[in-house]
Amino acid sequence: MIFTYGCQMNYSDTERMETYIEALGFKKTNQEDDADFVIFNTCSIRKKAEDRALGKAAKLTKSKYKGRDILIAVTGCMARISSSKYSEKRDKLFNTIKELDIVFKINELQKLAGLIREINPDSEIKEIPEESLEHYFQIDPTYSTSSENQAFLPISMGCDKFCTYCIVPYSRGREQSRPMDEILKEAQQLVKDGFKEITLIGQTVNSYGLSVHDKLNKKFDYITEGKEPFVVLLEKIDKLKDDGLERVRWTSSHPKDMSDQLIDAMAQLETQMPYLHLPVQAGDDTLLKRMNRTYTTEKYRTIIKKLRKKIPGISITTDIIVGFSDESEEEFKNTCEFFKEMQFEHAFLAQYSERSGTFASKKLNDNIPWEVKRERWHTLNDILRVSSKDILSRFVGQTIKVLFEYQEDDSILGRSEHFKTVRIKKTPETLKLIGQIVPIKIISSREWELFGEV
Ligand code: SAH
Ligand code: SF4
Ligand code: F3S
Repeated sequence: MIFTYGCQMNYSDTERMETYIEALGFKKTNQEDDADFVIFNTCSIRKKAEDRALGKAAKLTKSKYKGRDILIAVTGCMARISSSKYSEKRDKLFNTIKELDIVFKINELQKLAGLIREINPDSEIKEIPEESLEHYFQIDPTYSTSSENQAFLPISMGCDKFCTYCIVPYSRGREQSRPMDEILKEAQQLVKDGFKEITLIGQTVNSYGLSVHDKLNKKFDYITEGKEPFVVLLEKIDKLKDDGLERVRWTSSHPKDMSDQLIDAMAQLETQMPYLHLPVQAGDDTLLKRMNRTYTTEKYRTIIKKLRKKIPGISITTDIIVGFSDESEEEFKNTCEFFKEMQFEHAFLAQYSERSGTFASKKLNDNIPWEVKRERWHTLNDILRVSSKDILSRFVGQTIKVLFEYQEDDSILGRSEHFKTVRIKKTPETLKLIGQIVPIKIISSREWELFGEV
């Protein structure tokens, strides 16, 4: 059994891990009590995310004291050194979680079989030579965490941006792009298998092919005519529309690499959706500088203006951190003003959480009291609720295309082109719509979602 925490990247990794683990001879279960091997695929973006996984893992390891024979492993963004409890050089997590058996880095997944044998030399797991697996991206995923017709497709991993607050460049390592041919092959297979929507994922997907590692390895030198590798990739994937691909999204992106050619490609390519998640983090230039975000509010504003001009009605969502080191009342006020001005349709609001090893943890102070962080979070959330409701109500009366993905008690749910959640009543007829793109007349809007009928 695998417990997955964190972003889409981790969910996508879990899908590859499942294939590998099944090849070792394990059978998947979703019943915690049945499992004899449990993996925690962890996230370390904030302390809360870590605590959630650690708490659960600690609880499970305790069942060993009651005689339960269970193997427990940790991977994902908290794992730093692939090791077993018997290894000479062990990950620090072994000091935190008693009775933990294995820690493995996700990009060293091929070492897992050896680590299991280190714990249990008589283990009957199948032989998969480490050399046979150059990179875990080459494993076919199970797509078990994707929905029936929407899949996540990783195009790069790691990050070179080093925002001062962020753990990702340390947990995921430097940015590396996946070869374009490999991505296209996976996309082709997905379309063949009936997937209508693909979401390209990575930490900053729009720097695809531009990282230091990519350049040193000359991986994308064949790209000519001054086109950016990411734009070339979007153009090539767009061609799959002839085989049935309808929608392509990507996340997350960084304002620094939001070029004019990319905006033009978004506007022109048929499979590109009128939706963009573009994290801004703060609406104050000094604060952005302290965060090492490498752009100003003016640059961000210019990008949004261009996007709205070329793609009328585009939905834009963002991420914001409140309570970062030394954030003054004045700086926070600027963030609120900017937030209102940009008319974001949704946002992930985070309270700053200091991460050990980052520049901010070494050189800046985590000096905003938690009550102030919480209060600022609520202030922004109130602004967001108003603007989001306003924006959603513009869809009422319109007929929009929805890809239905899953059902709940009495509803069928899906996403519109603008990435809005749309709910319709569940009936034997509408149940058949899951997996299809259907025009839906919107009748009303609720907080965060739309309600409609066929
Ligand atoms: N690569 C993406 C973001 C990945 S992390 C990007 O740059 O857009 C997702 C979000 O978590 C970030 O956008 C940020 O808002 C938040 N985050 C990252 N580090 C954080 C920290 N130390 N404390 C609080 N929130 C954080
Ligand atoms: Fe973290 Fe910044 Fe990289 Fe995003 S761009 S993953 S926030 S370092
Ligand atoms: Fe978390 Fe790692 Fe994603 S830190 S947000 S799971 S890249």
